[in-house]
Amino acid sequence: MRAAQVKAFGGPEVLVAVEIPDPVPGPGEVVIDVAYVDTIFVETQVRGGWGRDFFPVTPPYVPGGGVAGVVTALGADVPEEWLGRRVTAFVTGSYAERAVVAASALTVVPDTLDLRTAAALVHDGVTATGLLELTGIGPTDRVLVLGASGGMGTLLVQLAHARGARVVGVARGAEKAALVRELGADAAVDATHADWTSAARHALGGPVPAADVVLDGVGGQLGATAFSLAADGGRFSAHGASSGGFSPIDATEATRRGITLFGIGDVQFGPADLRRYTSAALADAAAGRLRPVIGEVFPLERAGDAHAAVEGRGLVGKVVLEV
Ligand SMILES: NC(=O)c1ccc[n+]([C@@H]2O[C@H](COP(=O)([O-])OP(=O)(O)OC[C@H]3O[C@@H](n4cnc5c(N)ncnc54)[C@H](OP(=O)(O)O)[C@@H]3O)[C@@H](O)[C@H]2O)c1
Repeated sequence: MRAAQVKAFGGPEVLVAVEIPDPVPGPGEVVIDVAYVDTIFVETQVRGGWGRDFFPVTPPYVPGGGVAGVVTALGADVPEEWLGRRVTAFVTGSYAERAVVAASALTVVPDTLDLRTAAALVHDGVTATGLLELTGIGPTDRVLVLGASGGMGTLLVQLAHARGARVVGVARGAEKAALVRELGADAAVDATHADWTSAARHALGGPVPAADVVLDGVGGQLGATAFSLAADGGRFSAHGASSGGFSPIDATEATRRGITLFGIGDVQFGPADLRRYTSAALADAAAGRLRPVIGEVFPLERAGDAHAAVEGRGLVGKVVLEV
């Protein structure tokens, strides 16, 4: 079958099209004919050799990922009813035509939802739904979203808005800021402006202008600066590192200010939560309550170009691979 393989750690050009053996389902497993694969930012960092402690891959490897497709073969002990079902799943090594996964790890795609939209939600929709629950966002909260125009950021804006929170998104440039407002943010602040923190503080409002919840999908200096915008007694999730590193938050200072910190470890969900959040995200999308923003779709053979597009930061929304 066709696949896209990382030959060595490096730039997008190390991701090349290859032929590899078809996967064979073991007992309890199914084969998915993959229609779409999601791409997420961290895959570009791992391809570049970043985060070896968390992501112990050694080239050559097939990256991935979240897939959406159709079940076309069953291993032993899998009920016949799975055959032909439209499903999503997390699969290691899913930049490929076919994927093998345990039947217990499948989520059925609602009939009214297309597979491209479903694929776009496998990672982003799950993490965003989980983050909303983790941070307990409700109608009285003022929420600051960093990286608000990205794959997950666009979903966080919509979900927080749907819970009645006041949402302020931080994005780079006028076009991305406009999208964030269109998705339901009460305000969008341009991160390239020198005084973005004053603008964010003003937009957050309240007796003491600040954010009850900060959802930091960028990290680095932007995230560290955003910590000063968090209200005492608030919540701060430092799950993002697209700037190259997670926010260097001083835990002692957070404790002193009564701020609850969450990190990347808090969004590594177990199988039961993964199933619950996947179903919730797909149901929200099927009902028109949640819209992943897909900036571009690349064929599997051009996975390297897809990674270059993610790293180039020119696209609005996320990138999906079509198999
Ligand atoms: N997706 C998930 O399920 C998931 C799970 C756990 C953690 N995370 C983390 O959350 C973050 C966002 O993930 P994503 O999948 O939504 O990625 P994404 O769609 O590629 O979004 C990345 C965001 O980071 C910003 N960004 C990119 N490069 C940057 C840089 N050098 N400096 C500052 N900002 C930069 C982008 O904004 P501009 O380029 O427009 O400035 C964009 O808003 C990542 O760090 C990821 O590892 C994601």
